[in-house]
Amino acid sequence: MEERLTKNATRNIFYGGSAFFLAVFVALTLHTHVYMTGRSAPTSAMSDGVVRGKEVWERNSCINCHTLLGEGAYFAPELGNVWKRYGGDQDREGARGMLAAWMASQPSGVPGRRQMPQFHLTEQEVSDLADFLEFVSKINTQGWPPNQSG
Ligand code: HEC
Repeated sequence: MEERLTKNATRNIFYGGSAFFLAVFVALTLHTHVYMTGRSAPTSAMSDGVVRGKEVWERNSCINCHTLLGEGAYFAPELGNVWKRYGGDQDREGARGMLAAWMASQPSGVPGRRQMPQFHLTEQEVSDLADFLEFVSKINTQGWPPNQSG
């Protein structure tokens, strides 16, 4: 019987398919990057405070207990939208004050509640964290998380 799928044809399908899907992968990666930096989380909106706040976030490993936009640990509340929970949309200074009060008053020592350590952050560090959390709350996550408490 005549062999229809020759060795050559198989090789071409393999290389052609690999090249095609590699191109699709690269294009989607570029699209994600352009969308992210230009529209969903514009780098133009990243002040020095936001950048420093992210460093405070990283140095103190907040992600070891918290999630940020779903990424991280599930011991403590999601913080990607804590700014909105604190009413920062309506009252910016109020939300900054609430964050500072929260950071200063931990651990709460309330029996039965999970505890957050005291980080002894400076006023500047807390202010930078507020900038960072405000920025994160404005990232266009296309409606995620579905409710404010999440
Ligand atoms: C060891 C775990 C742990 C680490 C690390 C941690 N937290 Fe927390 N955090 C908690 C817990 C637990 C709660 C909830 C406490 C409660 O509800 O009484 C919390 C709550 C919060 C809240 C209030 C959330 C809300 O919805 O009201 C904020 C803001 C916060 N953390 C910020 C931070 C920041 C910023 C860092 C890093 C500097 C950090 N946390 C690191 C455990 C942690």
